[in-house]
Amino acid sequence: MTSSLTTANTPLIPITILIILILPGLFYLAPHILPPPKSPPVTFPEELQDLTLFRRATTPDPRKSRLGSTNSKPKIAFLFLTNSDLHFAPLWEIFFNGSSSRSLFNVYVHADPTVVPKVNIPGGVFTKDRFIAAKKTFRGTATLIAAARRLLAAALLDDPLNEFFTLISQQCIPLHSFGYFYNALFEADKHQVAELRFLKYKSFIEIVSKDPYILDRYNARGENAMLPEVTFEKFRMGSQFWTMTRRHALVVVADRKLWKKFRMHCLRPQSCYPEEHYFPTLLSMEDPDGCTSYTLTRVNWTDSVNGHPRTYYPNEVSPGLIHELRRSNFTNSYMFARKFSPDCLEPLMKMAYQVIFRD
Ligand SMILES: *[C@@H]1O[C@H](CO)[C@@H](O)[C@H](O)[C@H]1NC(C)=O
Ligand SMILES: *[C@@H]1O[C@H](CO)[C@@H](O)[C@H](O)[C@H]1NC(C)=O
Ligand SMILES: *[C@@H]1O[C@H](CO)[C@@H](O)[C@H](O)[C@H]1NC(C)=O
Repeated sequence: MTSSLTTANTPLIPITILIILILPGLFYLAPHILPPPKSPPVTFPEELQDLTLFRRATTPDPRKSRLGSTNSKPKIAFLFLTNSDLHFAPLWEIFFNGSSSRSLFNVYVHADPTVVPKVNIPGGVFTKDRFIAAKKTFRGTATLIAAARRLLAAALLDDPLNEFFTLISQQCIPLHSFGYFYNALFEADKHQVAELRFLKYKSFIEIVSKDPYILDRYNARGENAMLPEVTFEKFRMGSQFWTMTRRHALVVVADRKLWKKFRMHCLRPQSCYPEEHYFPTLLSMEDPDGCTSYTLTRVNWTDSVNGHPRTYYPNEVSPGLIHELRRSNFTNSYMFARKFSPDCLEPLMKMAYQVIFRD
């Protein structure tokens, strides 16, 4: 018995040696054979920090009850997600300045920690205390979802009166005044009992189920990698930029199940825009009737290059363009538009009062 065992084990030794010899070679070759990991994941320490924040944001705080403050008007939280300078800060300052009262909105900024946006407008809204704890983001990766969730969590925690949450990027511009936007969100229900009003609000988010690329997008992490949590029938595409109700912000921040799937590495970066899939898929699974299925942020996808939408340049900026971009096929006109090159600031400022903020 003993001898037969020994004989059986003998060939194992050369194999072990062989593995030891080959392993370093594999480590050397692997990056050359396998595609490099194109999408840097959200790291483990980042995940832990986020989880702590998200838990806090979804734990009801009895001292901050919305029902206790029904005499106060609801607010809009503006979530600025940026990885460069906030080029259009002066235009946004006029947008916010136009509101009759500072008590109708809050501003939060998630800026790439390696970029410090220049926003030194004295008394302006982009003060340092509006910057939330941020982490680096990478295009076409789940880091953009994580950043948007951090913004939502920070805004949920900060003010129980934040009723709507609008995601804005550094390339977005306003197409209407603050007052116009505020009324569009809240006026429809102004005769409702204040305590019940928030139950009727809907999120403005594009939700698309029929698109020539949707199967590609679904399988971007590998064939059926999204199963079982997200079946192909439930997968949705949509816009990265939305205006979300408080109810839905809580759903997003509390989510673990879908995040686990959408944070996975993409094998095909050209099919991978997790931030355009996660929010529409989650909200259409959780509360399809609570969504308008259209966004308030206009984007021109005609002649898009490399997954980037059409960018507007200074020579194109005119009152006609603003009026054209506002036009929508839905109940509300568009409130915001992207993308604008940074040097559009000057022509936009010139027509701010006469055109953009004149509704
Ligand atoms: C904001 O409004 C005040 C009062 O109307 C005005 O004095 C100030 O110049 C405005 N600031 C901007 C940035 O438009
Ligand atoms: C959208 O982009 C296309 C292609 O560049 C252009 O022809 C069209 O005028 C743009 N639409 C608007 C509303 O600017
Ligand atoms: C509105 O619908 C028409 C017809 O389908 C389409 O040609 C047009 O581009 C749409 N406009 C916008 C702003 O989406």
